[in-house]
Amino acid sequence: MDRYVVIGNPVAHSLSPRIHALFAQQLGDSLEYGTLLAPRDGFARSARAFFDAGGRGANVTLPFKVEALELASKSSDRARLAGAANFLASRSGSIEADNTDGAGLVADLVRNLRVDVAASRVLVIGAGGAARGVIAPLLAERPARLVIANRDVDKARGLASRFGPLGPVEAAPLDAIPRDRFDIVVNATSASVHGESLRLPEHVLSAKGLAYDMAYGDSANAFLAHARAGGMRASDGLGMLVEQAAESFELWRGKRPDTSPVLAHLRTRTA
Ligand code: ATR
Repeated sequence: MDRYVVIGNPVAHSLSPRIHALFAQQLGDSLEYGTLLAPRDGFARSARAFFDAGGRGANVTLPFKVEALELASKSSDRARLAGAANFLASRSGSIEADNTDGAGLVADLVRNLRVDVAASRVLVIGAGGAARGVIAPLLAERPARLVIANRDVDKARGLASRFGPLGPVEAAPLDAIPRDRFDIVVNATSASVHGESLRLPEHVLSAKGLAYDMAYGDSANAFLAHARAGGMRASDGLGMLVEQAAESFELWRGKRPDTSPVLAHLRTRTA
């Protein structure tokens, strides 16, 4: 049976095995999908051992996404632009890398949350790895404006110049977000995950756009509650997780699962 894993550290709480089992069940496909805990200094060793033993594919989570791109002998444009990979596949004896995170975010926004990214004004907060993975796919939807706001504005400027050729992207300091009516506000900082709270300025809240936290579960709650209290619609990143998994599944198996029942199932389980 074809074997897949999600590699991370920690990884025990990953929902990916459950999501892929539900996809396989839905499509009558038979595969095995488990977790692989790699030592912090041993990602390449663990991943190679998995593929040498016949593993077909792996999703990669924190803190190994940059190393995953380095390990592969071939990679997609979107993985290279993101500077990170969350997807590996063994094809004709070599390891190939891709990044399905940004496509997952866009699919969740467009299909599940019914938000039109085209011609919208998008604010991405954060300029680390999570932000870098989603900027190009967001720009591909042709927003009117995409502002990257970060505490350390130099990092935001770095991303704005890296992605500048792809669309109307600009940088701003987190405490001087341009006064615009943002339709979509993506929290791509690690603030939620560290239990710190991220506050949005009044003009961002009062535009009543969609606040989206790329984290899910308890860690997203503080930001989402703050956004809702300010009048915004709000969503965590569970849909993004399911959509990036569907994109991975399709790349490996050539069949696209229907994400709606899987997302609904997880929502009832994690509520
Ligand atoms: P990841 O790969 O998850 O993006 P990262 O590369 O360490 O993690 O980046 C974390 C991002 O979250 C950074 O943009 C960081 O801002 P700085 O670059 O200014 O440090 C942002 N961040 C983390 N905690 C934050 C907080 N409490 N408020 C605002 N931004 C925060």
